[in-house]
Amino acid sequence: MTSIPLCLPESITPEQFLAEYWQKKPLLIKQGLPQLIDMFEPEDMLGLAIEEEASARLLTQANTKKEGQAQWQLKKSPLTELDFDNLPKQWTVLVQNLEQWSPELGQLWQAFDFIPQWQRDDIMVSYAPKGGSVGKHYDDYDVFLAQGYGHRRWQLGKFCDQNTEFVADEPIRLFDDMGEIIFDEILEAGDVLYVPPKLSHFGVAQDDCLTFSFGCRRPNLMQIIDSMADIATNDSDLFVPMLLPQAMQASGALQTQSIEAIKNQLLQLLQSERGDHIIRQAVSEVVSKRQYDALMPEETLDTDELMQALLEGGTLQADYSNRLLYTQDSNNTVLYANGQRIDGLDEATKAVLIRLANGESLQHSDVTGIDPDDLSEWLENGWVWIDFAE
Ligand code: SIN
Ligand code: CO
Repeated sequence: MTSIPLCLPESITPEQFLAEYWQKKPLLIKQGLPQLIDMFEPEDMLGLAIEEEASARLLTQANTKKEGQAQWQLKKSPLTELDFDNLPKQWTVLVQNLEQWSPELGQLWQAFDFIPQWQRDDIMVSYAPKGGSVGKHYDDYDVFLAQGYGHRRWQLGKFCDQNTEFVADEPIRLFDDMGEIIFDEILEAGDVLYVPPKLSHFGVAQDDCLTFSFGCRRPNLMQIIDSMADIATNDSDLFVPMLLPQAMQASGALQTQSIEAIKNQLLQLLQSERGDHIIRQAVSEVVSKRQYDALMPEETLDTDELMQALLEGGTLQADYSNRLLYTQDSNNTVLYANGQRIDGLDEATKAVLIRLANGESLQHSDVTGIDPDDLSEWLENGWVWIDFAE
């Protein structure tokens, strides 16, 4: 059951948002995510940025642009405290995949439950002192920009395309001309701005400021083709040489007809039941893959401690830095976790994993029918976490 309300204005239903705004136009949601207020302070994020396993980037901006020199400098993690000494006036540090460090923050994805879990990428924070920004740019994905601390002024401009030219020789994608400014507002903690893909945006910190980007993702065709090839490798029938009609032709020619005949066999395969199966598995594996390496929990509970924690009121929840999803294949529900199909599950265990994948918080009474060692393994794998909060 979702305990966090959806991040939408009262006047807009999820259906309306998906039909009218999603991938089409921006939306400001005043106090869309009040849970973020006071959740973190800038110091917390600076501490995280220098953690050994963090995916972080420090972006600094020279005060003046010198001829022939980049105005921006980018340093990727590992970052150390030294990197934060003698910074120019304007800088930003970005840390990706925050749900890995804070499942409580990851839980806020529930406010975006109208977007399927497999289209969620990660939560990134940007910390900047007054004046800091990452420049004018666009992204290829949808993003919900949620203000967590301080204030940021956001300007939105034109939609870009592949032909939009970026400023040359800079380490990040930037451009000068955002076209007509269609939005110009200062967001305060709790406010959320939805920005569709390719819409130019520019956010400037007005004071010490934390902005959390709830970013989305979708696979590209190359990833699917790649994964299909991997899956098809296990299908011995596909290694049988094809039968092809033969017409008289010059012996040196590879005729278009022959290529067409091969293409037709390929299309037939894709449109067959076997093809459905390969495509389904390829898509499921690709979209359930993690983008970042798993951070192994420093300490975990053993099976008895886990069951005790549940008995004492703790709840079991999917960990949003891991990817758990299910799909229907020939009337059979198949589960995937982090790019891998999970086989050999009994119906009761499947039912519990499906509820977790759907974002439910499960109590002790919800999991009594399944093997506690399974729960313990899920905890160890990082698929789930125990929330001790009331
Ligand atoms: C930021 O928070 O400063 C950058 C986020 C974005 O532009 O996508
Ligand atoms: Co952006």
